[in-house]
Amino acid sequence: MSALKGKHIILGITGGIAAYKSAALLRLFVKAGAEVQVVITPNGKEFITPVTLSALSGKPVVSEFFSANTGEWHSHVDLGLWADAMVIAPATASSIGKMANGIADNMLITTYLSAKCPVFIAPAMDLDMMAHPSTQRNIELLRSYGNHIIEPAEGELASHLVGKGRMEEPENILAFIENFFSEEKPLEGLKALVTAGPTYERIDPVRFIGNFSTGKMGYAIAEALSRKGAEVVLVSGPTALPEPVGVRTIRVESACQMLDVSRKEFDSCDIAVWTAAVADYAPAHPCNSKIKRQKAAIESIELVMNPDIAATLGQVRSSTQTLVGFALETDHGPENATKKLRSKNLDIVVLNSLEDSGAGFGTDTNKITIFDRCGSSESFPLKSKAEVAEDIVDYIIKFRNSK
Ligand code: CTP
Repeated sequence: MSALKGKHIILGITGGIAAYKSAALLRLFVKAGAEVQVVITPNGKEFITPVTLSALSGKPVVSEFFSANTGEWHSHVDLGLWADAMVIAPATASSIGKMANGIADNMLITTYLSAKCPVFIAPAMDLDMMAHPSTQRNIELLRSYGNHIIEPAEGELASHLVGKGRMEEPENILAFIENFFSEEKPLEGLKALVTAGPTYERIDPVRFIGNFSTGKMGYAIAEALSRKGAEVVLVSGPTALPEPVGVRTIRVESACQMLDVSRKEFDSCDIAVWTAAVADYAPAHPCNSKIKRQKAAIESIELVMNPDIAATLGQVRSSTQTLVGFALETDHGPENATKKLRSKNLDIVVLNSLEDSGAGFGTDTNKITIFDRCGSSESFPLKSKAEVAEDIVDYIIKFRNSK
């Protein structure tokens, strides 16, 4: 049974091309057993008709402060109190700006300001509008009010440009909100930082030193932390994976960039999970232009040490933070893992051994043993990476509760 059964949902629709997807989202909410009241902005009606929406929701659509026919006043206050959730999808740059700054010039914004329930906002706009500092600042403001931002996906936009700004698919918005209502949230109010994927260290503009990490384990952990209520920042090296819904993802290329971004997020985080397969060395003298084929072999490429992100930030940690590292080992697994626990000042280390088939890079499964600084350890059987992520997050919660 869906966690949305019997829930009262306000579906706010603003004036963007993605409003056509709102009909599909509305249908999914209704199929999940929710009662839905659509509130649409005047511009929203240019993109999708209230007739379609009222037919799907079984209720008249609210748009103006007064009903044009009867003069009846639509109480945004009553609506705000009625709702268990308010979902604004699509949310245009303009409506996001108004919500962030309290510009209550239409029924949707007044309802938003009156709502006491959790609010979910699915932005949709062109990539340049999305990237503009003004939009980004407004989104951060909404986040600081406790609203949940359902990050837009990357892909082809209505303008035919390709980038970030496409409203998340209705199925994913539904899953995000169902997750919110179905799970216990032991990490509510906490912030988690996750590094993931490989790093690429440039040799020249077209070549790099990297590794086979796909980022799957780190992305699964970021999602699992978010499901348990944490606000999650994922700092990801180059991967082919889509950004997890509900997680703020920052993409980087090299180890130095990953350290810079992680350092900025680190102080404010309660939990950090270092899953990235950070390249330990980088070319000392990357070329700015492509190295041409030589007549003879290139004898060597000089490499310099990269920073150790886990160890560097482990030096400046506070005792209230919980730091989790990974150890990928080919031999002497437990000894090497516990050594890393101490040398990187971690609380928990997750060992995955390349000796185990089905564990490590590229696979959809993993087999882990967890060690913590109090001397406890636990081994788990081979499981999917999503299940392994749940086990790791449960261990983190247990560890924090035992302190
Ligand atoms: N790590 C890191 N920065 C690095 C290297 C590693 O943050 N430059 C983190 C990884 O994300 C992981 C842990 O440290 O959580 C251990 O990584 P691993 O590659 O197993 O260890 P190394 O310290 O590189 O040691 P070695 O390669 O010698 O086993």
